Amino acid sequence: MTTQHKGAPARQVPNKTWKPAAAGARITLSAIKADVGGYPGHMSVHPHLIEEAEARLNEARKDGLLVDYCVSSCGDDLELIMTHKEGVDSEKIHKLAWDVFYSCAGVAHGLKLYGAGQDLLADSFSGNVKGMGPGVAEIELDERKSEPVVVLMADKTGPSAWNLPLYKMFADPFNTAGLVIDGSMHDGFVFEIHDVKEHQKIEFSCPEELYSLLAFIGSTGKYLIKSVRRKDGTPAAVSSTQKLSLIAGKYVGKDDPVAIVRCQSGLPALGEVLEAFSTPWIVAGWMRGSHNGPLMPVSRKQATPSRFDGPPRVVALGFQIAHGKLVGPIDLFDDPSFDHVREEANHIGSFLRRHGPFEPHRLPPHDMEYTTMPEIMNKLKGRFRKID
Ligand code: F6R
Ligand code: MG
Ligand code: MG
Repeated sequence: MTTQHKGAPARQVPNKTWKPAAAGARITLSAIKADVGGYPGHMSVHPHLIEEAEARLNEARKDGLLVDYCVSSCGDDLELIMTHKEGVDSEKIHKLAWDVFYSCAGVAHGLKLYGAGQDLLADSFSGNVKGMGPGVAEIELDERKSEPVVVLMADKTGPSAWNLPLYKMFADPFNTAGLVIDGSMHDGFVFEIHDVKEHQKIEFSCPEELYSLLAFIGSTGKYLIKSVRRKDGTPAAVSSTQKLSLIAGKYVGKDDPVAIVRCQSGLPALGEVLEAFSTPWIVAGWMRGSHNGPLMPVSRKQATPSRFDGPPRVVALGFQIAHGKLVGPIDLFDDPSFDHVREEANHIGSFLRRHGPFEPHRLPPHDMEYTTMPEIMNKLKGRFRKID
């Protein structure tokens, strides 16, 4: 499905003397998201919030701060996809995103939407939206002769949902044929891993350090893939690693993640990026952030987590970046070749649901976002006896 975003480049008049496009300038692609109110419950984003965000970003484009933008959503998360020349971690861009979320939260309050303003953890902006609630993935790139990118957006899960797909895209030859048969990919990629509990990071160069990489990223509650780059330094992918529960010290919402992946010409082909989602692997975040469920690749229209507030969803939007403009998006999972993955996800989801409150459907106690355990323990504390 083609869904041209508002303000997309006008229809091009064919130029008979066309030459291959030259590589463009340096540009930053920022995907910043927040849940500022759901409709109904935690299911989707009300169109009025999308309209408000579009109007605000349109002003920022007129003022010259943004080159282009596309407002989207996945489940109850509002997603701002922006191109600009300010680099990553720009205070101006983060403030813009914060202000847009803030005014959208105002619209959400007016409509009494659910959890209005829930991801805006601070009363005012303080330089960078990281650590304040919103999820952020940003990549600064030298626009190639042709620049295809995919923006991945997930709901009812956390940033560790990207660990397995990013591994498959950039390190698994059974997923990415180019690792074996394309000379420009054969050397492999470097993965930057964040330990979100100890706040430290480490890099692994693959394929040489593949087994060490896997030893860490299989522990999805602690180690997250932050970024991937080619060995010549070309940035290839970046994910959001915010963990709201760690930021706020208590449950305030889901850290539903975003990621950006560049494709083609020495990077995974578009289809190799999408192939990584052909297994609906099991991720944390379903119902009350306290259950495991299959990650279901869906179109934007199907990103309405309805069954037991899920199962977790992922949407992929494809763009070509042309002189900083976002040409697109194409709703990439809106395709019958993913029907069987959705079907498999439904089977896995039903099977897990039959476990009810038992692990491994329910998360282990320390990973649950909701728990009554301390209260129950407190009530029953006098009744425990030593086992002889
Ligand atoms: C929210 C989510 C939901 C909620 C659940 C209970 O992203 O995943 O499953 O956790 O609907 O929400 P409250 O406690 O707000 O009624
Ligand atoms: Mg919500
Ligand atoms: Mg959400």
